[in-house]
Amino acid sequence: MALVDAIVTRKESLVIWLGGINLERQTIYPSMLAEWVFDARQRTLDLIADLRDDQLLGAPLAIVNPLLWEIGHVAWFYENWVLRHAGARPPVRPDADALYDSSATPHATRWDLLLPSRAGTLEYMRQVQERVLDVIHRGPNPTETYFVLLSIFHEDMHDEAFFYTRQTLGFPRPDLTHSPNGPTMTVRKANEQAPPGQGALPGDVGIPGGVFPLGAAREEPFVFDNEKWAHPVHLRPFAIARAPVTQSDFAAFVDANGYGRRELWTAAGWRWRESARALYPMHWQREGTLWLRRDFDRWVPLEPHRPVVHVNWYEADAYCRWRGRRLPTEAEWEATAAAASVDLSAAKRRFPWGDEPVLAARAQLDGYALGCCDVADLPAGDSYFGCRNMIGNVWEWTASDFLAYPGFDADPYRDYSQPWFGTHKVLRGGAWMTRGRLLRNTWRNFYQPERRDIWAGFRTCEVQA
Ligand SMILES: [Fe+2]
Repeated sequence: MALVDAIVTRKESLVIWLGGINLERQTIYPSMLAEWVFDARQRTLDLIADLRDDQLLGAPLAIVNPLLWEIGHVAWFYENWVLRHAGARPPVRPDADALYDSSATPHATRWDLLLPSRAGTLEYMRQVQERVLDVIHRGPNPTETYFVLLSIFHEDMHDEAFFYTRQTLGFPRPDLTHSPNGPTMTVRKANEQAPPGQGALPGDVGIPGGVFPLGAAREEPFVFDNEKWAHPVHLRPFAIARAPVTQSDFAAFVDANGYGRRELWTAAGWRWRESARALYPMHWQREGTLWLRRDFDRWVPLEPHRPVVHVNWYEADAYCRWRGRRLPTEAEWEATAAAASVDLSAAKRRFPWGDEPVLAARAQLDGYALGCCDVADLPAGDSYFGCRNMIGNVWEWTASDFLAYPGFDADPYRDYSQPWFGTHKVLRGGAWMTRGRLLRNTWRNFYQPERRDIWAGFRTCEVQA
């Protein structure tokens, strides 16, 4: 930590260049970069520390990576972009690209690579981090700063995937008590269960129509290419639920034979349902008259007022039809979260509650609570129109295909968005394990509609006459 202390005293301010745009508004301190590098890495280590070597390889499924490969890959990403691309430095290990470049190592082959041992992988990660911290300590140039941030956010996204993998493979809940206390740790402590909660939050709010600027503003200090840039979209007035669909809401759909009624499903949804032989959500099972759900390696009764999770887009869509409702489009979702007044074309909020930072009292994020909270919890995070939990708690499927915004231009990490346009659906808002530093109202997540392993739920909209 001596290195961090030395950096804090320097407090150099930097200008970020992003996609050729000089964003002078944001001051990024090297001390903050170093703290985030440490914090992201500690989270990675916490998520694998208790696992046996055989668990670090895990089952070769299409929806997970071998964790031993994935932790090396997050380190390689810093090496590739910060040290070699931005810094023109020599490779840390000569075979790093052959092992860890996700573009060069097809998913199915990752279990067969001659990966270093756990100790060897951790040593490679340590060596890369040492060199990255050296770049930060010397005072990174704007390009290096951009790629350090990109690498931190990339590690954050993989850390979220580590939670998915642990859930998918039935590993125990991780122990996060070693993670440093971040700025969102003002209320909940690591591994502290979410409190009993605040119950349900039924009902809709009405959102007026208008012209809404969908996408990131140019003042945003760091955005991904798929958020660029705000552009006008026309919205009709609509009504949207104050809260996501709960587990008890969804159990009513299951108990009403929702999975057996062809008319509730799209053609693609029904094909998926039949091939998966799905009769209820992933990780559910019935015990007598009760539904249980698997939470990592334990079976627990449904938490009636917490959001339904691990449902895919098809299941969300079928539920909506059963209720005579629909999913919001991503423009409707963002307008609901970001509006600062009844005039949708006016200034947008960065978060539902305003522009103030993420705090635990406003959003269920950063993983420490190890689960969702009730949908009526955290009223301090409400949007202008009174919608709750829009940031944090559970990812929300939208009706929208993941498409490029007008004028799309891929950033240097070209495979981040472009390969996935047209085949994925957009999710918004973040879930309980998403890092708060990643998120804002304009942040777009995207998954294939059949994915059930993510902590995704949804909220519904009224169908206009
Ligand atoms: Fe990656």
